[in-house]
Amino acid sequence: MSARVSTRRRSSICWGSALLGIPDFPAAFRPSPACRVLGVGIATLDLINEVDCYPSEDSEVRALSQRRVRGGNVANSLSVLAQLGHQCTWLGTLADDAASQEVLLDLEHHGIDATAAVTVPGAMTPTSYVTLSRVSGSRTIVHHRDLPELDAAGFEALSLKGVQWVHFEGRNPAETASMIQSARRRAPQAVISLELEKPRPGIEALLAGPHLIIAGRAYAQARGFEDPGAFLRDLERQTTAGLCVLGWGAGGAYLRARGGCVEHAGAHAPAQVVDTLGAGDCLNAAVIDGLLRALTPREAVVRAVRLAGLKCGRIGLDGLVAEARRTGWF
Ligand code: FRU
Repeated sequence: MSARVSTRRRSSICWGSALLGIPDFPAAFRPSPACRVLGVGIATLDLINEVDCYPSEDSEVRALSQRRVRGGNVANSLSVLAQLGHQCTWLGTLADDAASQEVLLDLEHHGIDATAAVTVPGAMTPTSYVTLSRVSGSRTIVHHRDLPELDAAGFEALSLKGVQWVHFEGRNPAETASMIQSARRRAPQAVISLELEKPRPGIEALLAGPHLIIAGRAYAQARGFEDPGAFLRDLERQTTAGLCVLGWGAGGAYLRARGGCVEHAGAHAPAQVVDTLGAGDCLNAAVIDGLLRALTPREAVVRAVRLAGLKCGRIGLDGLVAEARRTGWF
């Protein structure tokens, strides 16, 4: 897949959701290259050990290097969206330990407003112990959390004035379902997107409400689908979303606007895969950005797959967009 996609903004006079090919986007949705985006989900501390290759059980290996970075799906997506020029706010829970200060400093450093985060006294910052294999670039994550999730009351306390896009992580289903309904009610002008990364009990409660769903391969496979098209058709039957996207790792991504055909954007592999951590979060961010720039769903996904591919060929997310622009990837 080598097609370049122009990010030229089209005339704002006639833009509407129907022209994007997304039947249920809010009528007031006006794509714009710089938007107020709210991300609701987790922020973590990631301790990343790079090893030659993934160790076998009960072995002892030495790490080639170690990094300590802020992670979390939504927080990662926001850091890419901020690099793409959007005004980003993160909402989630924070512990009150030393690591939570690192998380906050990093969000601030990336220009992400975290002032509405809900602090939980006595809790621990969610921590991911990541083993990154140099030979394959794969990341294996052991995640530990002892921090309550954001609840609907925490979401209700945040004003949604001026927010044009709200992106949710698919977790804590009962509370998140209320938040999605609340977002639709309080911010009818906003597009609501939902990430379905992996299956969780009750997660189907989230399918009514979002305009856009971005699912991951792990979710589709856990639901018994090996055929991306069959998964998207099945998902469409269960959701109100007008557009469903499915990330398929090295297989690129698939999409289907309601009632349309399943389309495929082939992966754009880097010369060497060195770090896949956060590639899905990057894909999500770039899909959102593309739609905010009035690209068609297919153009947005093609471009997002390119950015995720570039990400896999480099360490981390910092400076990703600048590199993508410098090297003509984006
Ligand atoms: C990557 C990531 C990490 C985080 C983990 C949480 O997608 O967000 O940064 O530790 O997943 O599940």
